[in-house]
Amino acid sequence: GAPVEADISALKPGEKMTVEWRGKPVWILRRTPEQIAELPKLDGQLADPQSARTAYPIPAYAKNEGRSIKPEYLIVIGICTHLGCSPSDKFVAGPQASLPNDWPGGFLCPCHGSTFDLAGRVYKNKPAPDNLEVPPHMYLSETKILIG
Ligand code: FES
Repeated sequence: GAPVEADISALKPGEKMTVEWRGKPVWILRRTPEQIAELPKLDGQLADPQSARTAYPIPAYAKNEGRSIKPEYLIVIGICTHLGCSPSDKFVAGPQASLPNDWPGGFLCPCHGSTFDLAGRVYKNKPAPDNLEVPPHMYLSETKILIG
């Protein structure tokens, strides 16, 4: 498939947009400063916080805490690495016993309960074997991203 261009100029802090690339949903999340600050605190709860052991190729620029070129923008494929369901967004704390009390938001896969943080990193002891995949991408300008 051809690369797709995404215009992120209207994306506000805390918002997410989706573009389609190779028939897959690619999420672009603009993280708030608070959300970025939470990421390092979660490492102990995650299966692969540094994206060191992924089964798929991960771009070198995504091998960091935020899994991104710019800390503000997360770009991941919105498909669960377990059996391919689509996780729901920024699921917030509720009665679910499997979530930590201080759940700072992230993604929940409705199929078998895998949870991911706002860098798409999977929590420990979940069925999903890997963090959400980061597609190859680059910035064409401050507000345009080329995916693919
Ligand atoms: Fe997501 Fe199974 S498909 S947890």
